[in-house]
Amino acid sequence: MTAARVGLGFDSHALVEGRALIIGGVRIEHTHGLHGHSDGDALAHAMTDALLGAAGLGDIGQHFPSSDPAYKDADSMELLRRSMDLVEAAQLRLGNADATLYADAPRLGPYRDAMIQSLAMKLRVEPDKLNLKFKTLEGLPLGGAGGAAVIAAHVIVALEAEA
Ligand code: C5P
Ligand code: MG
Repeated sequence: MTAARVGLGFDSHALVEGRALIIGGVRIEHTHGLHGHSDGDALAHAMTDALLGAAGLGDIGQHFPSSDPAYKDADSMELLRRSMDLVEAAQLRLGNADATLYADAPRLGPYRDAMIQSLAMKLRVEPDKLNLKFKTLEGLPLGGAGGAAVIAAHVIVALEAEA
């Protein structure tokens, strides 16, 4: 059996007023949203980097540069779908993905199933291949510029060669 190819992704966006909070493609009720050139979906970005990394295809900025006006307010889940196209074109498929989201607020547990469904649909995999975990930061100095609160995501994926 061929060894799995693993990939690691990380992303972090500051919480700011006047933006919708979207994580894993799911709209979450909150006073603040994630700042960013795109919709700021840190989970989608970290997952995209994990997939690209496992496939040996560099990172999100190479494929979807934030300097390109085409990606202003981009739907990050659409970029994730396109990164899965690249994975499949390389004759690889998702074994599993595991993520940790770091957020002091809001509580994300109630959105776990919706996020998994949303990610599974874009990745074209069964939901049982995906796992999400949530952690408070408890003052860990992972803050954005000026100490702004952030939401950050770590994702690890394993890709397998197509049989
Ligand atoms: O980080 P902490 O150990 O306090 O998290 C306890 C539990 O609270 C986690 O296992 C997770 O299920 C939930 N949680 C959450 N939303 C967050 C942070 C934690 O639902 N933003
Ligand atoms: Mg990002």
